[in-house]
Amino acid sequence: MNGRVRTMTTNPYAQETLSTLLAGKVAIVTGGNSGIGKSIVECLAQLGAKVVIDYRSHPEATEEIEKEIGSYGGCSFGVQADVSKLDDLQRLVDTAISRYGRLDVMVNNAGIETRTSILDTTPDDYDKVLDVNLRGVFFATQFAAKQMIAQGGGGRIINISSVHEDWPMPNNTPYCCAKGGVRMMTRTAALELAPHGITVVNVGPGAVATPINDSTMNNPELLAKLNAAIPLGRMAQPEEIARVVGFLASDAASYITATTIFADGGIMQSSPGL
Ligand code: BGC
Repeated sequence: MNGRVRTMTTNPYAQETLSTLLAGKVAIVTGGNSGIGKSIVECLAQLGAKVVIDYRSHPEATEEIEKEIGSYGGCSFGVQADVSKLDDLQRLVDTAISRYGRLDVMVNNAGIETRTSILDTTPDDYDKVLDVNLRGVFFATQFAAKQMIAQGGGGRIINISSVHEDWPMPNNTPYCCAKGGVRMMTRTAALELAPHGITVVNVGPGAVATPINDSTMNNPELLAKLNAAIPLGRMAQPEEIARVVGFLASDAASYITATTIFADGGIMQSSPGL
């Protein structure tokens, strides 16, 4: 087996260990040390971007990722910042600039859910979910866009939304409200930022095998029900979402804005054919 074939089997994002697709670009990924965010960080780094890994807890997980990226000559570093706190968000952008000098790609990935209904959601549940999933995305977009406008040359804002920006999930009401808000924020902000060459796009994953879905994955009956509802018959692996972000961050996606790219295994169109 030659070296090239070996790297292709171990590297899910690029044919070479370190690609140049995103060379020279600087990206921030919020919620970047676990789940989909971790895969996005790895993907962007393997495609040659310098990546700032925002995280809220588990610094050791962030260090692991930094080490792994460093091992093949990639660049990344972690910043502890809570996206629901505006001071933290501004510090995140400022730190990226002081370390790497610019910001080209802002990936708003951090997200939480309570899996509570309209009847049992407490004001505290509501605030927590909306603060991270909508307010955090709104102001991260604002702060990133101001930096991109100041430096010139445009930029990419990529929001990890959900199929639930448009498709109800009973018993996860605050989450659906937040994602519905992100859907409209993206479309509106994209129009406002287009004159500056900044694109704003959502990625809408379906069910992905990450910690947010532990309760489903640990319940065989629920998991079977979920898989049966997905035309492709299975949950996504986080890499399958990260690759969409890698594409959207690249020049190949220069004409995509004000919309959502769903990567959901067909679940939103699923029908029993009755
Ligand atoms: C939610 C998961 C849900 C999935 C598919 C995601 O956005 O976070 O809880 O399983 O959508 O419905």
